[in-house]
Amino acid sequence: MQILSGYLNTTIHLACELLRKGEIVAFPTETVYGLGADALNGYAVAKVFEIKKRPRFDPIIVHVSDMEWVKKIVKEVPFEAKRIMEKFWPGPLTIVLEKNEKIPDIVTAGLKTVAIRMPSHPVAKNLISSFGRPIAAPSANPFGYISPTKASHVAKILKDKVPLIIDGGDSFFGLESTVISVNGDKILIYRFGAVTAEELSQFGEIVPVFDKMRRPLSPGQLPYHYAPHKPLKIIESPEEIENPSSSFLAFTEPRHPVNAKYVLVLTKSGDLREAASNFFSHLIELDREDVDIIYAQKVPEVGLGRAIMERLRKAEKKWG
Ligand code: TXA
Ligand code: MG
Repeated sequence: MQILSGYLNTTIHLACELLRKGEIVAFPTETVYGLGADALNGYAVAKVFEIKKRPRFDPIIVHVSDMEWVKKIVKEVPFEAKRIMEKFWPGPLTIVLEKNEKIPDIVTAGLKTVAIRMPSHPVAKNLISSFGRPIAAPSANPFGYISPTKASHVAKILKDKVPLIIDGGDSFFGLESTVISVNGDKILIYRFGAVTAEELSQFGEIVPVFDKMRRPLSPGQLPYHYAPHKPLKIIESPEEIENPSSSFLAFTEPRHPVNAKYVLVLTKSGDLREAASNFFSHLIELDREDVDIIYAQKVPEVGLGRAIMERLRKAEKKWG
């Protein structure tokens, strides 16, 4: 692991090379440091979850350096959202919009929406525009820790987990971005952050998204968080399939013919990263009108396998 100054061209060059290879790079933003991966490479994004040791998949923010990329990854940019972007971007505001197929499903944890932010930190801006593609990045802390605001924080907590930490000095805000979505003249706030509700209120009616306990909702709890429409059953092996009018989500290639209409394999080689990067898109594809049930094969509960199993159990429980 190396820590290099983000104000050197050689550092940005190296970072882009690593990102292109699907590696993870920690980089500074004006809010907190982020753990960046090529947002269009699902396998690279799976690594981010692995490094963060998240017990589940949470949707990740996609960082862009210009509006052109926003247009390339969403269905549309509503007029009201555009006004807010013009006012607060680049800066610590994240806007949730309907995504298109360019964004891998693992980035959004199966949601149809993607959270987008255009950071103002000069190093982040330079990194994203030099890379030439959007960068998906959660805060660079392991799950449950506070977010890092200095390169040295990242170095301490992530040690040898990333090949490069780009040092861009202390994060100016030291607090994560505000996450919103815009619905006509309403602004839904999913996470309060560096842009205040007061500042946003000139652009619409503020609607904080709370659950019944008056706690802010985490995405795992959001009502629209992805769960399949068809019932899901977790099984050990394809021999347990009882209903042939079904789909089967296999962990690795089944050894015998499978008694299901549709079969998709998460990973040929048993690689959990590959499995994670295919998980949401395969599940969405298997959730079809013409099946009664989705059978999902257990995956080993280590590393990313735990996050996959957590999602599967949730989906199974919905129907159990
Ligand atoms: O300031 C920040 O936002 C930092 C820097 C690195 O940009 N990033 C950050 O990422 O805090 P993370 O992963 O720690 O938090 C992302 C937040 C989570 O609260 C997540 O629920 C929300 O964004 N989020 C992401 N995608 C979403 C979506 N499609 N709908 C609703 N909320 C979403
Ligand atoms: Mg975070």
